[in-house]
Amino acid sequence: MAHKDIIILGIESSCDDTSAAIIKNNTIFSNIISSQEVHKIYGGVVPELASRAHQQNIIPVVDKAINDANITKKEIDAIAFTRGPGLVGSLLVGVSFAKGFALANNIPLIEVDHLQAHVLAHFIQEKDENHKVPSFPFLCLLVSGGNSQIILVKDYLEMEVLGQTIDDAAGEAFDKCAKIMGLPYPGGPLVDEYAQKGNPHSFTFSKPKIDGLDYSFSGLKTSFLYFLRDKLKEDNQFINNNLNDLCASLQFTINNILIEKLMMAAKKTNIKQIAISGGVSANSGLRTQLSEKADLKFGYETFYPKLTYSTDNAAMIAITGFFKYLKGDFASQNVTPYPRNIVL
Ligand code: KG4
Repeated sequence: MAHKDIIILGIESSCDDTSAAIIKNNTIFSNIISSQEVHKIYGGVVPELASRAHQQNIIPVVDKAINDANITKKEIDAIAFTRGPGLVGSLLVGVSFAKGFALANNIPLIEVDHLQAHVLAHFIQEKDENHKVPSFPFLCLLVSGGNSQIILVKDYLEMEVLGQTIDDAAGEAFDKCAKIMGLPYPGGPLVDEYAQKGNPHSFTFSKPKIDGLDYSFSGLKTSFLYFLRDKLKEDNQFINNNLNDLCASLQFTINNILIEKLMMAAKKTNIKQIAISGGVSANSGLRTQLSEKADLKFGYETFYPKLTYSTDNAAMIAITGFFKYLKGDFASQNVTPYPRNIVL
């Protein structure tokens, strides 16, 4: 790259992870994530508790990110933060911290759309490693706790939503069905774990009938609930006795729904490079099912972010900050958090 080295501090605080990262150009030097355990007993994120925990965590997390990167504050060229979407109280902590840090160190402030950042996580490199990156244009399935979108990525900061969920997100489907089975929050990773020991063809659940490239997951959740309610009438140990098969079948159904529309988008746009990102992209079944469907022999190439960059993290905020820095796209000190979707 022709420019001088650019060092960015990235801050992520949109939901229940407080994270800070240092990136030098596109290479990550540290990525610290403090996940909040306080929500577990409530079966979901409690916004008020999340913002308080961010408030406690932010300084130690940033300190550690700077120390681990082996740099000094003076070397940081800009600070990038998640502006939204997310919980407004949580976002406020990151936004306020970033403003103060920018002022105190006299450096530019960069606002980042959390969803764009999930997509750009594919471009994060690590020291002494060459991670395979997609080339433009490519399709990205962004699947997280709050979003399920098929995105046409034309350039680093030029993206278009081709389809999205009209109700629940894929991560919500995983988490809500896991809750029905009595599993703790967030249920997605646990469903993944049990599914690996189960048979995905044991049970079938209804799939949504929705035109075009949009998704719907609320019907699946209801059909899963009624199915279990009927089975439990016959055998009150049905969930315990079939947990692995239930998880495997549920996971297979959700992933099939996701992949079917994604492949439809690929055919429609004639794009052969397909990426997935967001928390649900950590799902092992989704990775295998997609690789099977979009195997190279069919002319497709698939891209998966590293697991640490799939779920919420500040490295993806920092890399997005880097691309915005190159364009001189800076925010002003009167910027406010934005809880709803911004760009995507
Ligand atoms: O991207 P993320 O960390 O947070 C946002 O929603 O922005 O995604 C969290 C979601 C949760 O719904 C969680 O259950 C799901 O990602 N998730 C998984 C897996 N790991 C995280 N879902 C299925 N399988 C996984 N391995």
